[in-house]
Amino acid sequence: MPDRCSADSLEYWEDFYEDRRSTYDTLYGYEDLRPLLLSLVRPSRQLRVLHVGCGTSNVTQGLWRDGFRQILNIDFSQVVVKLMSERWVEKCPDDSEGVQWRHMDLTDLSQLPAASFDLAIEKFTLDAILCEAKEDLTDPRGVAALHGLHRVLAPEGLFLSVAWGATRRQALLKSGGLFDVEVHQLPGDAPQRPWVYVCRKRMPMPRPSGTLQPVLKQTEDALELVWDLGSMPKSSFQLDVSANELRWTQAGQSTTMALPFAIDTDSAKARWLQAGPG
Ligand SMILES: C[S@@+](CC[C@H](N)C(=O)[O-])C[C@H]1O[C@@H](n2cnc3c(N)ncnc32)[C@H](O)[C@@H]1O
Repeated sequence: MPDRCSADSLEYWEDFYEDRRSTYDTLYGYEDLRPLLLSLVRPSRQLRVLHVGCGTSNVTQGLWRDGFRQILNIDFSQVVVKLMSERWVEKCPDDSEGVQWRHMDLTDLSQLPAASFDLAIEKFTLDAILCEAKEDLTDPRGVAALHGLHRVLAPEGLFLSVAWGATRRQALLKSGGLFDVEVHQLPGDAPQRPWVYVCRKRMPMPRPSGTLQPVLKQTEDALELVWDLGSMPKSSFQLDVSANELRWTQAGQSTTMALPFAIDTDSAKARWLQAGPG
């Protein structure tokens, strides 16, 4: 055991929030992020927001004031989730049942359905997760967080990452071609100010070469690809699914498509939509 817990560990944050129950931090809060956020999205009651590593920040209050009503706040510290949900209930504005607080690890978002959020925001959470990483780009927890966020965002959904990490972080956010990334810096006079990475989910997937192309559809809990074989017999078509790649062979011609995120091959299902020739 290390003699001092690092900020990438649960123990560190549980202790931190036990000691800081009464304070509302935050260095660089919602008001600093607000101009950029509102230039990117129009507040709406319907827009589904995922706020990750919420801690005790004022982001949710700010979002609420600006008219967002669907906000799921997650943090892996049970202490802070309990604290914040109790605080929210105390102050509870009317009409606030769309605001929820759940204990969840950003590196495992498997409890959340695919394509179920339009906007994800994290503020200094990836910084905490990656504080001991030798390299952001290859850190398994960072990569898992990024893939999870990509999966739960709707097509063209936005992920805003507020971070101190500069070039190292960009390399991770751009990896795998999951997001188009724009870099901003928070306004202010301080010579060192956090970066805001505006990451837009890339869809559709890269187009494969080859003749027979699938039509892609992402539903709430599934990614669907449909090949129209026309009058060709079913027996002329073969499909292989691996975690990162699809390969199909049709009339002897093979086509490979790299997936922009890893899929669970055990859950993959293939079926014929129409009878067609055998
Ligand atoms: C530096 S604090 C930032 C808190 C808040 N976002 C803010 O700006 O004030 C990092 C937060 O991320 C949470 N956190 C760290 N690792 C996490 C993980 N793997 N999953 C979810 N939350 C995590 C911590 O509990 C803590 O609340």
